[in-house]
Amino acid sequence: MSGKVHEVFEAKSPQEMAARYDEWAGSYEDDLGDHGGPKEAADSVLRYVPKTGRILDAGCGTGLVGQLLSERGFVHVEGFDMSKGMLEHAAAKKCYAELHLGVLGEPLAFPTGSFDGIVSVGVFVRAHAPSRSFHELARITKPGGHIVFTLRPEFYLATDFKETIAELSAKGVWRVLETSEPFDGRYTEFPGINLQVWVCEVLARTEN
Ligand SMILES: C[S@@+](CC[C@H](N)C(=O)[O-])C[C@H]1O[C@@H](n2cnc3c(N)ncnc32)[C@H](O)[C@@H]1O
Repeated sequence: MSGKVHEVFEAKSPQEMAARYDEWAGSYEDDLGDHGGPKEAADSVLRYVPKTGRILDAGCGTGLVGQLLSERGFVHVEGFDMSKGMLEHAAAKKCYAELHLGVLGEPLAFPTGSFDGIVSVGVFVRAHAPSRSFHELARITKPGGHIVFTLRPEFYLATDFKETIAELSAKGVWRVLETSEPFDGRYTEFPGINLQVWVCEVLARTEN
């Protein structure tokens, strides 16, 4: 392991995080190995989002999720990430219709109701995208569309993700359809880390 995984958790700003992922991009896939989140999340997308739908892979990294969605027959997946270096590797996979550079947690440059599905794997973790990202992700998802993301169970409980997810449910922005059983993240360097896949359906807007 290159130690890059530890460095990204210590980033103090989005700029620093992006720079650290830029440096890590070349060895990211070798370092993390065949980790569990991408496949489980892609299978959840398959259950809820039509293959012809417009999908955003938010925090696409080097494109592992886009590749799995492409293998499952999805025809229009766009990638979004804050790291140019990671996006270059995603582009090389040729599985994304478009790639976008941007920061989750800030206003997103997509019109309201743009996507049928959004998937985010390994992005809502310590020092990465904040829970407020969900407000914008819900805005750019069509009513009836789905947001699929991974979270560590203990991170969900110990941070404001729990409150934010509940707040969006209480406000009728989305409803939680599914929280998977915890499964092994299969991180070579970090055995015993569990993940869950969440699936939320975005509801018709009652306010703007
Ligand atoms: C652990 S990697 C996961 C990449 C990919 N989804 C996967 O499963 O392999 C996290 C990715 O999220 C991106 N990221 C972290 N925080 C972000 C933010 N606030 N906005 C956009 N991208 C972010 C990083 O640049 C990195 O590519």
